[in-house]
Amino acid sequence: MKHYLVTGGAGFIGSNFVKYILKKHTDIQIIVLDDLTYAGNLGTISKDLEDSRLEFIKGNIVSHETVESVFEKYSIDTVVNFAAESHVDRSIENPQLFLETNILGTQNLLDTARKFWAVEKDSTGYPVYQKGVKFLQVSTDEVYGSLGETGYFTETTPLNPRSPYSASKAAADFIVLAYAETYKMPVNITRCSNNYGPYHFPEKLIPLIIKNILEGKKLPVYGDGSNVRDWLYVEDHCNAIDLVVTRGRLGQVYNVGGHNEMKNIDIVRLTISTVRRLLEENPEYKKALKTDIININDNLITFVKDRLGHDRRYAIDPAKISSELGWTPETRFADGIVKTIRWYLENQNWVDEVTSGDYQKYYRQMYGSE
Ligand code: NAD
Ligand code: TYD
Repeated sequence: MKHYLVTGGAGFIGSNFVKYILKKHTDIQIIVLDDLTYAGNLGTISKDLEDSRLEFIKGNIVSHETVESVFEKYSIDTVVNFAAESHVDRSIENPQLFLETNILGTQNLLDTARKFWAVEKDSTGYPVYQKGVKFLQVSTDEVYGSLGETGYFTETTPLNPRSPYSASKAAADFIVLAYAETYKMPVNITRCSNNYGPYHFPEKLIPLIIKNILEGKKLPVYGDGSNVRDWLYVEDHCNAIDLVVTRGRLGQVYNVGGHNEMKNIDIVRLTISTVRRLLEENPEYKKALKTDIININDNLITFVKDRLGHDRRYAIDPAKISSELGWTPETRFADGIVKTIRWYLENQNWVDEVTSGDYQKYYRQMYGSE
């Protein structure tokens, strides 16, 4: 039995990863460590917790005592670090929290893993680690900065982060790579493009747009809507991480992306037309509507003030993970977006649950009352 410590496993990608691993593997015990910030929700994995292969611990990755106690209690051999503050807009408002969680949290996890995994020193003073241990840092393509109209991010593209979020993720990447050199720690980094799918917190573009459509609210598009993101269905990302954990070459970085660039405005228009079509096709879905006004059309779009330092375009070249590990995305965007919207139409309870805290306050601060 392997023992994975999955941090941030109650968030969007982390929870999808937990479900993916439980379904695909029988020989992996998962310990989720998650502080249940506004973005984490225990309900997301409550069904999965009925499985004895999954355990949940509430705690902060920055806390030395917490992380040590997890390593003391369980024979952790693999760390998959999803835990992070993940929203660019919030990083613009409160950079410090991003630096604390994303940088110091990663360093604390690395130091604890190093302490528990090192069994001896070699003749030159480098630590020698237990067999089969690995630290996987889940990073983002945003560390590379912003592209112009052409070109792709490869693993050798210099890091050039431009938001407090991406700067904190880039710093964490550098720390991970530094530990690989200095202490010969067995690590990998994955850098993925924008994910979408079930359990995505409705502060990010796609779930926010779906939520607002169902409430008859305006759909805020930053700037002129021509910024480009490269979208990947979350399960394809989970599959990539699984491959890198099990077969990735130690010390290597792997970019993950499915060649699916789209302008924000096109995503919003497609989401509008897909929600409208699904509501027409299945009257049951009308239960998800929170308004009597059912004018679901492009008039809902409102162009709002642009994000500060808004990165223009992201686009991943996934050639390395494809050729080395045979990874290819399975879900075409046209199918993934329908699956995702169906999921939201069928899971409004989840949306209500995760937005029952400070969400309204956050929303008013960001977008005003509309
Ligand atoms: P998310 O915000 O949905 O989830 C983050 C989770 O981490 C939450 O469950 C939260 O409670 C937990 N958490 C936050 N601070 C913590 C702390 N100090 N200690 C313990 N737990 C804490 O984020 P996500 O979208 O699932 O992203 C997961 C990871 O993937 C992040 O590292 C992010 O940088 C990276 N990533 C995300 C995307 C994307 O499109 N969402 C793309 C590439 C990489
Ligand atoms: P987001 O989902 O926050 O992801 P990221 O900034 O990490 O790429 O935003 C995706 C794109 O959508 C980004 O270009 C900003 C834009 N956006 C809007 O136009 N309106 C919104 O309300 C949000 C949340 C994002």
